[in-house]
Order: sequence, then C-alpha cells, then structure tokens
Amino acid sequence: MHKKIKTANVIISALPYIQKFRDKIFVIKYGGSAQTDDKLKEDFVKDITLLQIVGIKVVVVHGGGKKINNYLDKLEIKSEFIDGLRVTTKEAMQVVEMVLSGSINKEITALLNKNGTRAVGISGKDANLLKAKTLNDGKYGYVGEITDVNAALILNLIKDGFVPVIAPIATDDDANSYNINADLCASKVASALKAERVIFLTDTRGILDQNGELISKLDKKEIDKLKQNGVISGGMIPKVDAALECVKNGVSNAHILDGRLSHSLLLELFTDDGIGTMIKQ
Ligand SMILES: Nc1ncnc2c1ncn2[C@@H]1O[C@H](COP(=O)(O)OP(=O)(O)OP(=O)(O)O)[C@@H](O)[C@H]1O
Ligand SMILES: [Mg+2]
Repeated sequence: MHKKIKTANVIISALPYIQKFRDKIFVIKYGGSAQTDDKLKEDFVKDITLLQIVGIKVVVVHGGGKKINNYLDKLEIKSEFIDGLRVTTKEAMQVVEMVLSGSINKEITALLNKNGTRAVGISGKDANLLKAKTLNDGKYGYVGEITDVNAALILNLIKDGFVPVIAPIATDDDANSYNINADLCASKVASALKAERVIFLTDTRGILDQNGELISKLDKKEIDKLKQNGVISGGMIPKVDAALECVKNGVSNAHILDGRLSHSLLLELFTDDGIGTMIKQ
C-alpha cells in the first residue's frame, strides 16, 4: 500500500507542470546521436506519446548524422565537417536526403503510430514547409539556410491532433534539395511557431565545461566565451547557435538534454530540478 501511495504522489507531483504546459507548443530535436538503440527509441516515443496525451503540442525535428556517416562510408563518398556543419556535395546530398527523409523520418513516424500517437512524417519539401538558400555562398556545398517556414501547415497538423515529424531537408523555387543542420532547423521551426520550449536531445549530459562538468545554465555572453576558447566545438556549435536564436525569437527556454538517458524529457519537464543545460536570453 505504501508503495502505491508513493506512485500516486509521483504522478501528482507532475500536475503543476502539466497544467502549465497544456496547449503549449514544444519543439523536440531528436539528435542522430541519441538514436542509437531500439530501447532508447521506444522510450523516446513513449515520452512523446505521454506529452501529447497530457495536452502538449509536440513537433519533432530529427537529425541523423551517425546513420548518414554509415551510408556515406558504405558508398565511399567523402564528407568533412567545418564549423560543425557537414560540407555536402551533390552526391552526398542524395544520400543525406535518402537517409533523413526516407529512412529515419519514416522509422520515427512509424514507431509513434505504433504507440498510438498519430504522427505525420514530412520533410521541408512537403507543401514547401522549409524554403532555403545556399549558406555562405556555397562554402558548405548543398548546406542551406532556411529563409521561410510554412508554419500554417504545421499548425494545421497540430490542430488536427497529429504530431509532425520533420526531416531537415529544405527546397527552393527550382526544387533543389538542401541539407539543413537539424538543430538550426528546429530553431527556425520553433521561432515560426512561437513555441514555448525547444529541447535538443543529444549524446552528452548537456554542455560540458573544460573539466567535463555539466553547466546547468548559460547565456549568450558565457556561450561566446566557451566558443572562443574551444570548449564548445563540433556539433555543439550549431546547437548553441540554434538555442540562442530561438530564445532571441521569443521561445522562453532552450534545453540541451542527454538523449542516451531513458525518459530524460520527462525528468526535465516534470520535475523541479532540470537535468541538462538550460539556455536563456
Ligand atoms: N562543450 C561541449 N559539451 C558537450 N558536447 C560538446 C561540447 N563541445 C562539443 N561537443 C560535441 O557535440 C556533440 C553533439 O553534437 P552532434 O552534432 O554530434 O550530435 P546531435 O546534434 O545530437 O546529432 P545530429 O547532428 O545527428 O542530429 C557531442 O557528442 C560532443 O562531442
Ligand atoms: Mg548535430
């Protein structure tokens, strides 16, 4: 009996958060690094299902760096990273789109639907969801910079009770394909939707300092310093840029969380002590 009362207390302790977040839009970036094993994927999908059931409007944007690397290796196509972004040749772009839009997007969407969440998997090419132009005059090849988000499409899906699952591929007026860093994609989508929160699930506990210790809160000034001295590097660069961009655009908080930890989303959102790094304006 004592155990049952404890369980009831745990459920009840989430009530103030559920009331606070009801009807709010949360954009969740599901990093390729966090999509490693089947159990983690199942737990992620259960968390999304729960968030949706308690009335949170969830939008998923996913990455796929690791799987893209595997396929590029198999096909012996070279790719390198500059500033945390994958320099994408035309040949690599085909693989990037195939993996993100064809494989990962449909896998996540199908898992959500299997668990009873009505999910719709789309890329930026569907109904011109994401329009882009070449980033930095082609310095990174087919890496694009989002110029426009068709927010109405996402809002319609949400209104009809669907969870949109977005692959970060964008297009332009000539129907070209652009590789968009998934963090920057999540930030643009969250800004366009005026989301309440953006959460980046990745493969570290959050942002770590020079001693490998977790930093629980950061602002722009502190981030600039960590970037300058190289503590923030690689894939964390676009992630902090994305987090800063969306808080600047009115999203109240951005969180970087450990996607390797089962139910980290629930721990962050429904308990008093956050577990990752929170980035504020
Ligand atoms: N200060 C830092 N703290 C934590 N991680 C850092 C830091 N600086 C660089 N990183 C790197 O950033 C990586 C996370 O970014 P990465 O792009 O690899 O993953 P992701 O964005 O979750 O996946 P994907 O790009 O496939 O969506 C970490 O694995 C780590 O190696
Ligand atoms: Mg990344």
